[in-house]
Amino acid sequence: MDRPTDEPGSSAETAHRAQVNDYDSFAEAYSAENENNLVNAYYERPAMLALAGEVTGRRVLDAGCGSGSLSAALRDRGAVVTGIDASAAMLALARRRLGVDAALHVGDLNGRLPFADGAFDDVVASLVLHYLRDWGPALAELRRVLKPGGRLIASVDHPFVAYTIQDPRPDYFATTSHTFDWTFTGRPVPMRFWRRPLHAMTDAFTTAGFRLTTISEPQPHPAAHELFPADSHGLSTTPTFLFFVVEAPPSATGSGGVSR
Ligand SMILES: C[S@@+](CC[C@H](N)C(=O)[O-])C[C@H]1O[C@@H](n2cnc3c(N)ncnc32)[C@H](O)[C@@H]1O
Repeated sequence: MDRPTDEPGSSAETAHRAQVNDYDSFAEAYSAENENNLVNAYYERPAMLALAGEVTGRRVLDAGCGSGSLSAALRDRGAVVTGIDASAAMLALARRRLGVDAALHVGDLNGRLPFADGAFDDVVASLVLHYLRDWGPALAELRRVLKPGGRLIASVDHPFVAYTIQDPRPDYFATTSHTFDWTFTGRPVPMRFWRRPLHAMTDAFTTAGFRLTTISEPQPHPAAHELFPADSHGLSTTPTFLFFVVEAPPSATGSGGVSR
């Protein structure tokens, strides 16, 4: 199975002392940054919305919804959205954005989800799967809560980027963790991500019974070039995130596999 490694260096040492991925401690700052920045607002979110397409009337689970920016955009397009996230502070921001009646749940994607079988037409999972060491249990749950033929639309750190930024480079074919600090208002916050090879991602989807329909490396939104002239060229010419659309089989007896 996976061969996890922690990268040496000051960030990792910090991470061993402090809690990693503590979104509760930087929810406000993360959400503010995510709201209008190049990478989330003019690249990741538009790409997810484009992959989701027409969602009017569809029941959508936003898995790892954070402060609810994608949920809000989907709701604006007519979807009936439910959000789940491990961070109570991120969910509090989502509730502020989406209103007191919004269906929002604190929960860990590693565990059983508090939803019935087939409860959703679509699941969106923006930038959350790379926090999970093992995708198997989470994907099995996401498939369970999707109706037959339902879609999981996911974005993750591009596996080639997560491989090349590490020095020394890890074994590409292993699943490894890497740890480094994000900085919010001058304060370092230790983050840990799980990097896996591309085939491990596609294998995880098909093992969970999904059928792979799309792998996407989209371009930023056209407005990005005018709004972010210094950085949009780099984002346009360098892999950053990888996007997947996978489908639950149309019936309970269907099997997974790559579509042709
Ligand atoms: C990079 S943020 C993305 C938030 C949102 N999807 C977006 O794109 O704006 C990652 C989110 O995943 C959540 N998260 C991380 N690990 C999780 C887990 N095991 N279960 C549920 N949520 C998790 C974090 O709390 C955080 O809100």
